[in-house]
Amino acid sequence: MSYIIELAGINKFFGQGAGRVHVLKDVSFSVEHGDFVAIIGQSGSGKSTLMNIIGCLDTQTSGVCRIDGDNTAELGPDQLAALRSRSIGFIFQRYNLLPSLSATENTALPAVYAGLAGTQRSARAQQLLTDLGLGDKFVNLPTELSGGQQQRVSIARALMNGGRLILADEPTGALDSKSGENVLQILKELNRRGHTIIIVTHDHNVASHAGRIIELHDGKVIADQRTGPLAPAREMAAAPQPSQARHHRFVGRLAQFREAFTMSVQAMLAHKLRSLLTMLGIIIGIASVVSVVALGTGSQQQIIADINAMGTNTIDIMRGSGFGDRRAGRIRTLTVADANILGKQPYIANVTPNTSNTGDLVYRNNTLSAMLNGVGEQYFEVKALAMAQGRFFDHNDVRATASYAVIDHNTYSQLFSPGEDALGKIILFRQKPLRIIGVLKDQERTFGPGSSNLNIYAPYTTVMRRITGAKFISSITVKVNDHVMPLMAEKKLTELLTARHKKQDFFTINTDSIRKTVESTTGTLKLLISGIALISLVVGGIGVMNIMLVSVTERTREIGVRMAVGAKQRNIMEQFLIEAVLICMVGGLLGVGLSRLFGVVFGMLVSNFPMVYSTWAMVVALVCSSVIGIIFGFVPARNAARLNPIDALARE
Ligand SMILES: Nc1ncnc2c1ncn2[C@@H]1O[C@H](COP(=O)(O)OP(=O)(O)OP(=O)(O)O)[C@@H](O)[C@H]1O
Ligand SMILES: [Mg+2]
Repeated sequence: MSYIIELAGINKFFGQGAGRVHVLKDVSFSVEHGDFVAIIGQSGSGKSTLMNIIGCLDTQTSGVCRIDGDNTAELGPDQLAALRSRSIGFIFQRYNLLPSLSATENTALPAVYAGLAGTQRSARAQQLLTDLGLGDKFVNLPTELSGGQQQRVSIARALMNGGRLILADEPTGALDSKSGENVLQILKELNRRGHTIIIVTHDHNVASHAGRIIELHDGKVIADQRTGPLAPAREMAAAPQPSQARHHRFVGRLAQFREAFTMSVQAMLAHKLRSLLTMLGIIIGIASVVSVVALGTGSQQQIIADINAMGTNTIDIMRGSGFGDRRAGRIRTLTVADANILGKQPYIANVTPNTSNTGDLVYRNNTLSAMLNGVGEQYFEVKALAMAQGRFFDHNDVRATASYAVIDHNTYSQLFSPGEDALGKIILFRQKPLRIIGVLKDQERTFGPGSSNLNIYAPYTTVMRRITGAKFISSITVKVNDHVMPLMAEKKLTELLTARHKKQDFFTINTDSIRKTVESTTGTLKLLISGIALISLVVGGIGVMNIMLVSVTERTREIGVRMAVGAKQRNIMEQFLIEAVLICMVGGLLGVGLSRLFGVVFGMLVSNFPMVYSTWAMVVALVCSSVIGIIFGFVPARNAARLNPIDALARE
């Protein structure tokens, strides 16, 4: 005779030290395949404790318990889960259905953890429900079912994976007598089909249906009598088994993953406001990181464009040792001759000397303060300027010290009404007349020489000889030949001028290096501010962790039920991790959306530059939020996975 349950010298203690109670005292008995056993006894006699040990939900303090030949003390949590999944079906007094799942889904749950494919799963679940008279209740939630119906769903769940051994703890306890009778008839029928049934009850009428009655009193077996025939061991109809083929095992894992995912979505939807508040930290964090990067990129691109507008590949040679050198104004070594020599160098394309003066500009009855720039004829090319009206002065004008002036857009709009022809008009700068021969196009720039300053340009010869009388110039601007490295040219012209001046009494500004500086500064700034925004992400992560811990506590009973029907620690862990990641991912998506919205508003309010979003930054933000979900979801998920099934089930 083979036994499905063998208990030898089982002792169970609860508690520690003085509070230690001896609940099961040297319990030994065996149960044959196909038997129907009732365990009866008064309240507190240890019936449920014994049942939990048989069901591999709890372990004995001493003694040996063999279920289906396996010594349960030798199995780890996952092997016990597998044993429960394979052989045992539980029927609880309070049904223990998951409230958010339909009757079919509740029934099918054990098969999810056994790895059965989805279509097979629901087909079998619906077959079982139909057999139990619930053919019209497939999609109903537990709250939409009566107690007797719920208990029948839980019987179907116990049969889902086969349920060779069915453990029913007070299955009729919460039911009226008619429903209770119905449940007992079902159990008897199952027994006839070959299921081994253990039922716990304190009701002798209920026990009388069984073929064998074991009576517990104060933790001891005081009676064990056979009251009916032992059904001959029969082959049971086999439950569909998950295929062990590699492909199917993968599909099974996928089904478990999907189940975990659906559960997570349901959990999130069940607490919409709470989920949203939990996400807030993540939303703000991601939105700020993405926005900062977009703002940084946008402003950087604008500044670079401005620098390019100053002229690409230009080098300015200024007097002194650097900006703010107060002796610079007294240095008189930088001359037009220097500019001419530089103009002959092969690495230089264009050159212009500059001398600038501020003074009063008079036109009709307007007097304005303006900057007069004395420049060479190549200034136009060097600075890549465009004309709105007229022309720039040429080599002959410079040689002839012609009293010509080119005015910029600002000056034009101050002196003339829009569209008015400025060419040929005479302006007075420091009482010296200059004839306007050209007007520059509006150069939009937020960086560089004066956006609101008034600039007028005249040949440097004219400025030096006719207006200021200066013998030296204030700076030289050169445009480097396209195929020459700006740094190389800078080095060479520095050597040349140092040799001419016998010392280096000037400094150079290279737009290329300015651009690099701007790039690296804004890059550093972006990184810095993103770093600060990351702190908000971490705070958000802690919020997620907090809510996940609450969620685990709230759903402890659910975790217990899942473990009882065969969920492994891995499955539970996965479910809560997915939930944490999902919250963070949705938060991340909302954050990116918020940032895009901000970008649209920003674009409407600020016209200087747009926010520039890179896909790359958004992808990184989403990956970041998932990682935060994993990191901060880990502890709650592990707590959930490590719950002891029996403690979890006992939690109200
Ligand atoms: N986790 C626990 N910690 C401490 N004592 C416990 C624990 N679980 C059960 N006990 C004690 O063990 C004894 C047996 O409990 P058990 O639940 O097995 O009784 P029962 O026979 O199922 O009673 P009832 O018919 O009321 O369900 C009781 O005295 C109970 O107080
Ligand atoms: Mg009990």
